[in-house]
Amino acid sequence: MSTPKRIVVLTGAGISAESGINTFRDNGGLWENQRLEDVATPEAFERDPELVQRFYNGRRAQLAKVKPNPAHIALAEFEKEFAGDFLLVTQNVDHLHHEAGSKNLIHMHGELKKSRCLTTGKIHGQQADIDATSLCACCGTASLRPHIVWFGEMPLYMDEIYQALEQCDLFISIGTSGNVYPAAGFVEVANSVNAKTVEINLEPSRGADTFQEALHGPASVKVAEFLSTIS
Ligand code: NAD
Ligand code: APR
Repeated sequence: MSTPKRIVVLTGAGISAESGINTFRDNGGLWENQRLEDVATPEAFERDPELVQRFYNGRRAQLAKVKPNPAHIALAEFEKEFAGDFLLVTQNVDHLHHEAGSKNLIHMHGELKKSRCLTTGKIHGQQADIDATSLCACCGTASLRPHIVWFGEMPLYMDEIYQALEQCDLFISIGTSGNVYPAAGFVEVANSVNAKTVEINLEPSRGADTFQEALHGPASVKVAEFLSTIS
């Protein structure tokens, strides 16, 4: 393909699957064993903060054991060499893109390792478990919540993301089922500015037919394979 100048990549749970983190909607996915309404909404946190904190502390514990896989690494290495603009937007709340070395990185659904003060809005980098009685370092009250975008909340950095999408000439979506908006609509924005749009996923996603090109198979293989075609 001709060399693109401005690339936006969107990743979802599928890119971290081969690192050992469960996806949400595949067989055995997180939302199979846990109703998302019970743990991933502001109402759930109001109703039962202990249950919600326990759920995210469990996910944090799982993160301590995982490492970036060849797909995360291929994206970070590509970014290092690429001469144009490169933005990686992830829906994932793990730290694997960061650990692989990606630099221009947006966590649009928050980050599991961080917590946020409900009183001041300050974000704390936090590795240890938090629970509903943990005291916040900035205001000394029990007002910490996971720094995660829950269903019904506004994803983060949307202005920056749309600005990059409106200027990109290549959009690549990796390991996302295309069920959750606004991320599932990014391909339409890229199509509207005549960018090339490519899906890399284990199987066709819900919006597969809106992409111009699709590579179906494991991200650990297909991501490097596709990036190597960009001169
Ligand atoms: P949503 O997809 O409508 O929107 C997600 C969030 O993004 C909302 O908070 C909205 O305010 C915000 N948003 C929308 N457009 C935006 C924009 N242009 N800029 C900034 N922010 C914007 O709602 P949702 O509740 O997150 O649901 C997403 C999908 O998840 C649903 O379509 C459904 O497929 C799935 N879902 C499944 C279940 C379930 O399986 N039980 C439950 C809830 C949702
Ligand atoms: N390589 C490539 N794709 C894979 C792999 C793999 N090894 N394993 C699974 N997949 C694909 C699946 O086929 C599926 O289409 O990854 C996709 C994962 O989809 P979801 O589990 O729905 O995850 P995602 O799209 O990231 O979910 C979006 O939903 O619950 C919310 O906030 C949460 O950010 C999350 C959002």
